Amino acid sequence: MARSVILGTGAAAPSKILTNQDLERIVDTSDEWICTRTGVKQRHIAEDGETTSSLATEASLQALEMAGVSPEDVDMIVVGTTSPDMYMPNTGALVQKNIGAHKAFAFDVFAACSGFVYALSVADKFAKDKLNSKILVIGAELLSTITDWQDRNTCVLFGDAAGAVLLSGEPKGDRGILSTHLRSDGSLWELLHIPGGGCVYPPSAEMAEKRDYCIRMQGNEVFKHAVRSLTDIAKEALKANHFSPDDVDWFIPHQANIRIMKQVAERLEIPIERVYVNIDRYGNTSSASIPVALNEANRLGRIKRGDVVLLDAFGGGFTWGAVIIRW
Ligand code: COA
Repeated sequence: MARSVILGTGAAAPSKILTNQDLERIVDTSDEWICTRTGVKQRHIAEDGETTSSLATEASLQALEMAGVSPEDVDMIVVGTTSPDMYMPNTGALVQKNIGAHKAFAFDVFAACSGFVYALSVADKFAKDKLNSKILVIGAELLSTITDWQDRNTCVLFGDAAGAVLLSGEPKGDRGILSTHLRSDGSLWELLHIPGGGCVYPPSAEMAEKRDYCIRMQGNEVFKHAVRSLTDIAKEALKANHFSPDDVDWFIPHQANIRIMKQVAERLEIPIERVYVNIDRYGNTSSASIPVALNEANRLGRIKRGDVVLLDAFGGGFTWGAVIIRW
């Protein structure tokens, strides 16, 4: 049976770090509140010249190097992002130019914090359709550019980063992506959205003054939906593969809030020791959070060949999804 196998991983984040203590000087908050309510201690924030595509490019080059694959052999690039460099061209096209992947076609997937899991699911289908194809799947964000730095409800949560994997369509074997599971519920869009910048509310001086190009969220409502949806879709993925929680070696959920991760792990009966957590150092990096965590776990040797890895994402839309991989 054909399978998509991850041959390499990479990640990048800006060198500038914004700590909770730094935020105490910007909004009415405290390190204690942020740590206990979210688990975030610091986040990376882009400086001049750093863009979503530049971070995506760095992460991609690392993934290619690990895989031993040349950019010229890449067939497809797909980027999950909600903070593209521009609305046109797509971020994937900029990565294609930057790395010199001349024969690849490129596009973005717009699914908020589920962007990477959505992109990986799409790439999985392409990879199995065209065996031996090489596909870069990226999650990349500069959330700092769409964060309202005067809104303490949201600005303490987010950070900038990119993560990438190099996927290969292999003719057979028991390694690789075992299944993907995606869901959406557009009826709940208002709970987490960016009001301005699209055709409904185009850019204007008034929009900029109200900072309506920034993320607006009803945090506690989102929290409840996130816990329920992440749990349900992960259970569906386990059931589809006849796995029990004990079969999962690494659970890598979207890094949105440590309390969400703990509640989901508890409901899934996966011990916290098998949950990969790096939200303390990155904050919520939306589409980038899962591939950044996956790359860390991979490069640290925490994930071993043959391990079962469960990815689980939730984001605006609402969108959510899970992927099971045998490493
Ligand atoms: N510092 C200090 N106090 C803060 C604060 C901050 N940064 N942000 C909010 N507060 C205050 C609120 O004003 C409120 O005060 P009040 O009780 O006097 O009205 C109190 O803290 C509780 O606010 P609430 O929003 O109920 O907190 P919470 O426990 O739900 O935590 C979030 C807020 C945002 C951390 C939490 O809801 C969350 O993580 N939600 C999901 C976010 C998410 O996952 N988003 C992305 C999905 S991909």
